[in-house]
Amino acid sequence: MSQGDSKRGQGASKRGLRKGLTSYGDAEFSLFLRKVFIKAAGYSDDALDRPIVGITNTYSDFNPCHGNVPDLIEAVKRGVMLSGALPMVFPTISIHESFAHPTSMFLRNLMAMDTEEMLRAQPMDAVVLIGGCDKTVPAQLMGAISTDLPTVFLPVGPMVVGHHQGEVLGACTDCRRLWGSYRGGQMQEAEIEAVSNRLAPSVGTCMVMGTASTMACISEALGFTLPLGATVPAPHAERRRIAEASGKRAAEMAKSGGPKPSELMTPASLRNAQVVLQAIGGSTNGIVHLAAMAGRAGLELDLNSFDEIGRSTPVLIDLKPSGNDYMEHFHHAGGLPRLMRELADLLDLSAPTVAGGTLADVVAGAEEVRGQTAIRPRGNPLKAEGGMAVLHGNLAPRGAVIKQAAASPKLMQHEGRAVVFTSVEDMTNRVDDPALDVTADDVLVLLNAGPKGAPGMPEAGYLPIPKKLARQGVKDMVRISDARMSGTAFGTIVLHITPESADGGPLGLVRNGDRIRLDVAKRRIDLLVDNDELSRRAAEPVTLPHEAPTRGYAKLYMDTVLQADGGCDFDFLVPPKQS
Ligand code: FES
Repeated sequence: MSQGDSKRGQGASKRGLRKGLTSYGDAEFSLFLRKVFIKAAGYSDDALDRPIVGITNTYSDFNPCHGNVPDLIEAVKRGVMLSGALPMVFPTISIHESFAHPTSMFLRNLMAMDTEEMLRAQPMDAVVLIGGCDKTVPAQLMGAISTDLPTVFLPVGPMVVGHHQGEVLGACTDCRRLWGSYRGGQMQEAEIEAVSNRLAPSVGTCMVMGTASTMACISEALGFTLPLGATVPAPHAERRRIAEASGKRAAEMAKSGGPKPSELMTPASLRNAQVVLQAIGGSTNGIVHLAAMAGRAGLELDLNSFDEIGRSTPVLIDLKPSGNDYMEHFHHAGGLPRLMRELADLLDLSAPTVAGGTLADVVAGAEEVRGQTAIRPRGNPLKAEGGMAVLHGNLAPRGAVIKQAAASPKLMQHEGRAVVFTSVEDMTNRVDDPALDVTADDVLVLLNAGPKGAPGMPEAGYLPIPKKLARQGVKDMVRISDARMSGTAFGTIVLHITPESADGGPLGLVRNGDRIRLDVAKRRIDLLVDNDELSRRAAEPVTLPHEAPTRGYAKLYMDTVLQADGGCDFDFLVPPKQS
């Protein structure tokens, strides 16, 4: 038997080009045909006998956050080849926050399915997922967890900061703050135009602790990303070196067979990720995405435990929107390894990572940076408690979330009169109407903006302050909804009310003029209306503000999407929970 025959024999098993052969009823012919076609691209037998590392290409002209993906792909390929494996680049869907209608969240599960099926369908022994813009990170990791293929996640990295009139600023906390100034008449049109050139000065993801930064940090905390992979700015040379290192590690994982996502996504690492999410003052979207990723591994993210973790985990990162700095400052202060050293007693440091060791190794390698201020010591936290609190009450039987780190202290206990908008469209049409009956003490309520109601659970939970109040200098009001909020936003905003109003949740029973009480210390959100009246309202039929879709992805979405506490995944993609 020739050497080639012997290799072919092993291959019937499982590695490289021999994996997942197309079905023609003759495995040897399937492999022969696959080689015939791939040789059209000029590959040698030596190359084709190597383990294969897939690399996702999520570059898109519609996704400027991923503008450095082509460079990163080249660096990953270099790392893969330096380690003796064969890199194979393939495209998947790319989603940008501002270029996805109706919302990026509506498409997240489609990207997860695309990623999962391409990882399954094509022969590869490991994969490097390159992503970053908000929903792309959870989508790619959800797909990878479902396939359980050895995976390295490489974030594209955050943008560098912008400057305007001597002020450091960036996307997109300052987009919202400065737009608020413009709406309130404190900034003129020429200046807001000038600012629009400066808020996003490079490729990469939003450089505050928004959803993209949050998800990159979660990926690093879970062990899917190499140390410092979450924080190195997108345009830096170090980002390319991390890409090369990611390729090397993926090649080694392709040969050794692990660690697999099932070894990384465990109850211990899920808890670690929640500690980090609270300590970074992360995006409220992070909890929805983490629930979805956990669900793919058969784990359940318990909101009450998350709240408990928050009570003992201070916010230590001084980044917008909760604090002052930006991702590059966090990086130069030592990044996630340095933060995790500060949190060491709250973490399970035995959790493995794709770097090849454990979190204990990562923490041991953290750099001490003299004089840095972006990562606070435990004795001087930015906030004594974690970034998020979980609320319950008769308005939120299965929970709601508030980003207390970015809320106004004086509104954390508040009772006010409800001013109700029945849909995002209704809010858009009426919120700036001078005749709107609203005061700064009222509670703005948005209905039908959840996973099914909108659909796609838009980031509409950051209801704008009505213009007439903004012009009086009102900067914050209590706002509640079943929507999400951008991780870059701030305010006293109750989100993800579950179940949503369009799914029969009691939020749909709120009427103009009702009294609502928020008490974050007691973790309560309540509608102060007696039960008889609520029963009467509940008997009225619920109508969606849009036609139910009858075909395509929209129908699949509407028929199967779970509520926020299930991570808004599709029910048929979630395996049974591990006992
Ligand atoms: Fe892409 Fe913010 S819009 S990360």
